[in-house]
Amino acid sequence: MRKPEKKSEVAIIGGTGLEDLLGEAEQILIETPYGLPPSISIGEIDGNPLAFLRRHGVRHSIPPHSVNYQANIYALHQMGVKRIIATNAVGAINTKFGPGDLAVPHDMVDFTKSRRFTFYDDAPVTHIDVSQPYCPEIRRILVETAKGAGIRAWNRAVLVCTEGPRYETPAEIEMFRRLGCDVVGMTGAPEAVLARELEMCYATLCLVSNMAAGMQKRLTAREVTSVAGARLPIIQRILRTAIKKLPENRDCPCSCALEDARLRRLNDARSSTF
Ligand code: HPA
Repeated sequence: MRKPEKKSEVAIIGGTGLEDLLGEAEQILIETPYGLPPSISIGEIDGNPLAFLRRHGVRHSIPPHSVNYQANIYALHQMGVKRIIATNAVGAINTKFGPGDLAVPHDMVDFTKSRRFTFYDDAPVTHIDVSQPYCPEIRRILVETAKGAGIRAWNRAVLVCTEGPRYETPAEIEMFRRLGCDVVGMTGAPEAVLARELEMCYATLCLVSNMAAGMQKRLTAREVTSVAGARLPIIQRILRTAIKKLPENRDCPCSCALEDARLRRLNDARSSTF
């Protein structure tokens, strides 16, 4: 890995257009044991170094189910990133939510099918706690900042992540609604969990781009892009302010997520499994 000139402990994982947040940016490619992520931009906002990773690749060519979430998160970890703020476009399942709203999810349901979802396939057997799947500190700052931005922002939401790349059927959405999900997207999982597995803070700012399947006549990719385009300046402003508000030291459970996650080895006389 070539050492970047600037070192950033904060990264954004987001979509096309958002990277304009950074002024002059250095592009770096980082090999990981899990493959090669898209090039990562490293620049500055308001004098603070910031890394930016385009989840769908530099030319938006990687569909949600083919994103190499492991390589993306691992590359940021290798660079020394400690905090990730993600952005996702989502459809609204909760009828109170509407297109153009923002939501900062507090919980998640993973309905993906084919993704590599853990760094811990081998010993030591590791069970990460996701009782609070998103970093409470970054969530608080995002909620507070989004509330001041003059648009509707939901401070709690259950995000269900589907496999894609197709949108959901109306029956699937009805099922998710009955399960208590508020918004649906295709990129929330396993990204959040992989970050927690490496003790990185992670929270996401979601933009509602449409009502979910069965709640409006049809869904189009164009609608998603046009709502996202319209909200881009506000989202950039929120991210910029939120990053400035991040305290220097982390005061959240994310940074010690591995502490109680590992089983003792079986040859340890005091341990047992059932
Ligand atoms: N479903 C899944 N992903 C999405 C949607 C949706 O309705 N809108 C934006 N991303």
